[in-house]
Amino acid sequence: MSKSASSDTQFFNSFSMVLGILIAFAIVLFAVARSIGADRQGTAVLAEPLHLASVQKNIAPFAQVAIAGKDNSALAALSSPAGAAPAVNVPATGEQAFTQVCSACHSTGVNGAPKMGDHAAWGPRIAQGKDALYKDAIAGKGNMPPKGGTTWPDAAIRMAVDYMVSQNK
Ligand code: HEC
Repeated sequence: MSKSASSDTQFFNSFSMVLGILIAFAIVLFAVARSIGADRQGTAVLAEPLHLASVQKNIAPFAQVAIAGKDNSALAALSSPAGAAPAVNVPATGEQAFTQVCSACHSTGVNGAPKMGDHAAWGPRIAQGKDALYKDAIAGKGNMPPKGGTTWPDAAIRMAVDYMVSQNK
């Protein structure tokens, strides 16, 4: 009786050990599979648009023509690496917006842009009311490109208009 009990214990011990090893092995396999899977999925999602964008860039024409007064935002989209132009460098203040972009035309008066500080040029424009100025600055007018050629949100353009109006009253 005591002999059979001891052989049962022995059997049980080796059986649990084998079982334990198998379970540990399964866990290791599972972990390895998970990490390989996550790796592959991660790069597949990231790499594909990047790859597409680089192909797009390689087959894009060398030169692009930006036309004043037309919506040129598609050009920016083509040359940006992600394929779509993100609203980069969105200014925090109207003054920043003006300095970054609007000043290119509005501090020199190029192409008939109303110049900063030129009250005679701004007077009748400001008299139209801010809503008209916002609308023209966002949609474009004559040689004024929509949003000054930026992809900024409307709010940033309105801030810039507010700043320009405040400086030209
Ligand atoms: C490429 C040159 C150029 C840039 C850049 C530019 N503008 Fe202009 N803007 C013009 C010209 C030219 C006009 C005059 C359009 C007209 O009256 O025919 C104008 C007119 C305006 C007017 C007056 C619109 C009206 O109703 O009379 C506002 C407001 C204005 N721009 C705001 C901006 C703001 C804000 C920016 C920057 C985000 C900006 N502009 C960037 C060229 C430019």
